[in-house]
Amino acid sequence: MGMRGGSGGGGGGGGLINSRRILQKFRQLVIFTTGSVKLKLILFLCILFTLFLFAARAASLMGWKYQSYNTSLSVSRKGYTILMNTWKREDLLKKSITHYSSCAELEAIRIVWSEPNPPSKSLRNFLREVVQTTSRNGRELELKFNFNKEDSLNNRFKEIKDLKTDAIFSIDDDVIFPCTSVEFAFHVWQSAQDTMVGFVPRVHWVDQPKQQYIYGGWWSVWWMGTYSMVLSKAAFFNKKYLDLYTNQMPASIRDYITENRNCEDIAMSFLVANATGAPPIWVKGKIFEIGSTGISSLGGHTEKRSECVNKFVAEFGYMPLVSTTVKAVDSRNVWFW
Ligand SMILES: *[C@@H]1O[C@H](CO)[C@@H](O)[C@H](O)[C@H]1NC(C)=O
Repeated sequence: MGMRGGSGGGGGGGGLINSRRILQKFRQLVIFTTGSVKLKLILFLCILFTLFLFAARAASLMGWKYQSYNTSLSVSRKGYTILMNTWKREDLLKKSITHYSSCAELEAIRIVWSEPNPPSKSLRNFLREVVQTTSRNGRELELKFNFNKEDSLNNRFKEIKDLKTDAIFSIDDDVIFPCTSVEFAFHVWQSAQDTMVGFVPRVHWVDQPKQQYIYGGWWSVWWMGTYSMVLSKAAFFNKKYLDLYTNQMPASIRDYITENRNCEDIAMSFLVANATGAPPIWVKGKIFEIGSTGISSLGGHTEKRSECVNKFVAEFGYMPLVSTTVKAVDSRNVWFW
């Protein structure tokens, strides 16, 4: 942290004040964390001791008989639908569909198809095989295409009438999350069903001198420790937002997105924030990118994204995005909290 601050303020007196301020902030941080670590250590020891007592007592009572708790109550709840955007990358599509079809609570898959040609015979056969394999394993999986005539990024949020679940997991074809991560995010979403719950956080802030909003990528989130959006390349949201996006959101925003071929994910973040008045939830998950570099690694990306943010603020009449620092972590994966 200090390194970045130092190189940023490398010019004379201003830099000195800057780094001193950062040092102060850093000291506060250290004090805060060490304090809480001590607290956590004590807590941890208490828990360990309690567990030990409990285990000893349970062992003497049951003679270590294994008891499995029935968790079928949570399984009988409705699962989620994967909404996958794809574009001329059949191999990636096959890979991700194969992977996600193995996730237990997945109910259905919708592939958003905007290519001029229909899906190839080999792709159709492949997908049929995936569905059959899943049903051989005792699970029904619905798999459908959503065909579009026009090639627009708005297609990925087109309203779908016959969805089986309220939960939608919007995912790009070139990122893979383990089923445990997806299901953890799904369970977080179930406790906040109006909220967007996702794996890829982004942030906005105000450039005071220019009186403009700036869009911040991953490094900004890391540096500031806050975020105000989660991208729809990997996020859960309620199906009602598809209807809002397609039918309620100003058409000027959708037109802007079609023309610029960008920012449909930012628009979705605006839409949900306007509806809820609350921030999204960032869930920690392992991410595996299986495709080549995407649009976000092209130059001039941040400027374009900032333009979108300012355009949408003008259309909404205010800035609906709310910043937060909360992050949901699966406590089963951290041995020390
Ligand atoms: C924002 O939310 C309000 C209240 O729900 C709604 O009336 C309005 O149309 C929304 N604005 C946009 C631009 O969607």
